[in-house]
Amino acid sequence: MADPRTGLAAGAEVEVEVTGWAHGGLGVARHDGQVVFVAHTIPGERVRVRIRELGPQGRYLRAEAIEVLAPSPHRVPAPCPWAGPGRCGGCDLQHIAVDHQRVLKAGVVREQLARLAGTEVEVTVEPLGSGAGAASRTRIEYAVDAAGRAGLRRSRSHDIMPIDECLLGMPGVDGPGVLDRGWPGATSVAAVLPSTGARVILPEPTALRTPTVTERVTAAGMTHDFTVAASGFWQIHPLAPTAFVETVLGFLDPQPGDRVLDLYAGVGLFAAFLAEAVTPLGQVIAVESDPQACSHAKGNLRAYRNALVVPGRVDDLFGVPRPKRRGAAAQRASRPRRSVRSGLIPDRADLVVLDPPRSGAGPGVCRAVASLGARRIAYVACDPAALARDTAYLREAGYALAGVRAFDAFPMTHHVETIALFARQP
Ligand SMILES: C[S@@+](CC[C@H](N)C(=O)[O-])C[C@H]1O[C@@H](n2cnc3c(N)ncnc32)[C@H](O)[C@@H]1O
Repeated sequence: MADPRTGLAAGAEVEVEVTGWAHGGLGVARHDGQVVFVAHTIPGERVRVRIRELGPQGRYLRAEAIEVLAPSPHRVPAPCPWAGPGRCGGCDLQHIAVDHQRVLKAGVVREQLARLAGTEVEVTVEPLGSGAGAASRTRIEYAVDAAGRAGLRRSRSHDIMPIDECLLGMPGVDGPGVLDRGWPGATSVAAVLPSTGARVILPEPTALRTPTVTERVTAAGMTHDFTVAASGFWQIHPLAPTAFVETVLGFLDPQPGDRVLDLYAGVGLFAAFLAEAVTPLGQVIAVESDPQACSHAKGNLRAYRNALVVPGRVDDLFGVPRPKRRGAAAQRASRPRRSVRSGLIPDRADLVVLDPPRSGAGPGVCRAVASLGARRIAYVACDPAALARDTAYLREAGYALAGVRAFDAFPMTHHVETIALFARQP
């Protein structure tokens, strides 16, 4: 079907000027007044594109660049031979100099906060370590094709492209034993290189129980070991846990005697450092829905009698409706299990950490968190749009955005981690 505004249909080729940058790592161009999102481009470039599809209700077009007519000074040859249009979909920004990747990501965080929360803030995306981009992942999951070969999915496709090495893997993650052999019968194989101990290789499906690894984190002069399922949630950048813990502690400034709620706590990364900082006079309540992560969190926090792990969904425990999801089955799953607040959640807290999944905390949880009256909230966000929506809900509930730091925890991809500080308004 042709776009009514431009008359362009899938397969048509046009020349456009890329003038903007969208959340999701896409260049933004206009053709006859219509928005065209183009992958693998950079603002400032003139490119020839092929229209791929029309967006919902004809609101925009999606296209792919087939020729760069006037390149940006920030364009570089992709360091990885597997990257590029129609090739590995793992890294979408390899064609951009890594320092400029950070400039574009900072623009996305700034723009989302301005558009969705009406808040103007300066944002810098800070590199982790050298910021070079390569060797920045301790965890890689490969898809396995019908012939048992491990590889990565092609950009916007279910096709699996066998590769011999992923540039982003830390040395030793995907070397011999992962990509140089077949995985017959597997659908995926993950390689995990923890900060202590040997690499773990996890083919799926497997009849075996997921092994655990030990991650050691030193931050703000304290060191903690964390047991985590090799397939469970842990930051993939080796320097991210330290940087995030130090940022959260710096933002919250925990004091002896404080009561802290660590919501979406995983295996207790923030809770362990906070339990030490608030001393036995204070208390940390860590809330996590994944039963395996909860059981690891309990073990990881064993030394702290002032730390309590509460298993369950944050929204259910606060007695607020689960966020709406599409589809009847999803709607049923979205129904709150409880409509009353759990007695395990206190009425008051001094400090709160929020580290929700990509969808964000949502209005109900933000309001419930605000009602605790905490003096500060640290919000760790992997999606700047979700952070911006929740910033608006928190502001309505009496909390102002008081600080933002963003980190390049996923170089070569459009992803960015943002940590925001909210302070209670007088
Ligand atoms: C981004 S991870 C953060 C984990 C931890 N804070 C860390 O830094 O390691 C989000 C965590 O929230 C958990 N989670 C997802 N939805 C949840 C919910 N509705 N209530 C409680 N926990 C949830 C996930 O299992 C996951 O462990």
